[in-house]
Amino acid sequence: MTVAKTIDGKIIAACVTDNIATQTEDYIHETGTPPCLAVVLVGEDPASAVYVRNKGRAAEKVGFKSIQHTLPVDTTESDLIALITTLNDDPAVNGILVQLPLPAHIDATKVIELIAPEKDVDGFHPINVGRLGAGDFDKALIPCTPAGCIILAKSVLGENLSGLHTVIIGRSNIVGKPAAQLFLAENCTVTIAHSRTRDIEDVVRRADIVIAAVGRAEIIKGAWIKPGATVIDVGINRIAAPEKGEGKTRLVGDVDFASAATAAGFITPVPGGVGPMTIALLMANTLAAACRQKGVPHLIKSF
Ligand code: GUN
Repeated sequence: MTVAKTIDGKIIAACVTDNIATQTEDYIHETGTPPCLAVVLVGEDPASAVYVRNKGRAAEKVGFKSIQHTLPVDTTESDLIALITTLNDDPAVNGILVQLPLPAHIDATKVIELIAPEKDVDGFHPINVGRLGAGDFDKALIPCTPAGCIILAKSVLGENLSGLHTVIIGRSNIVGKPAAQLFLAENCTVTIAHSRTRDIEDVVRRADIVIAAVGRAEIIKGAWIKPGATVIDVGINRIAAPEKGEGKTRLVGDVDFASAATAAGFITPVPGGVGPMTIALLMANTLAAACRQKGVPHLIKSF
């Protein structure tokens, strides 16, 4: 029996992007040019190519200028660094995103550290990581996926998350660690669980909010979920779907949706949950970055 209400990330993301499109009109009116997002893709990973295309389309839809640099898989680290330096120095470019993962011969940390912090719309640069940790939200650019998780949680639990226990499963720099900082800033009690956590089911069962960001298909089961908890599934895993025909695949999250939906109060679907929010928050970060660079006061909070 399903008891959970599904949180529709597409609808909530559309509210965010509608708001950004309106603010973008004001920005263009004041500055004479649209915010500009440059996205860099190295190689031909099909999933990364889809994500990058979706980011470019979303940017154009809210009224931004979108630039895509697609580089061959054998691009040298120094060629990529040269491109980023050019984008850093170009005052017409407000946001820079280098799609990850990068090919193994390129040092991703070095590349991320080279992006100008004020243009780092992913929020991965150590300066932005530090600002987030210090709670300096006026200057920080915040990672998009965790910021989307906060909005999704608030959409069903209300603005005040104070005192709720959030258990984040996964400790990546992209999702788990920044999500912990953001839920802490909302006065949640925060636990990060990971592959070495003992009795992980018992830890997750204490959560009012579960953030699943492990990257393993359907490993979080309904029996782990406290009745009524809010479950936000960040995972996007492609698995075989022989029921759809030979060689077919489908996307699933890190949460076993069918069993979790019998316990949770609210749950995000995959696809259609966190994914659209990540893109919407990337637009929010790009507009925030552009407004800060041009000294234009802006109303958009990045989360
Ligand atoms: N690869 C997977 N997620 C992300 C993301 O949020 N930003 C970038 N740049 N690459 C990613």
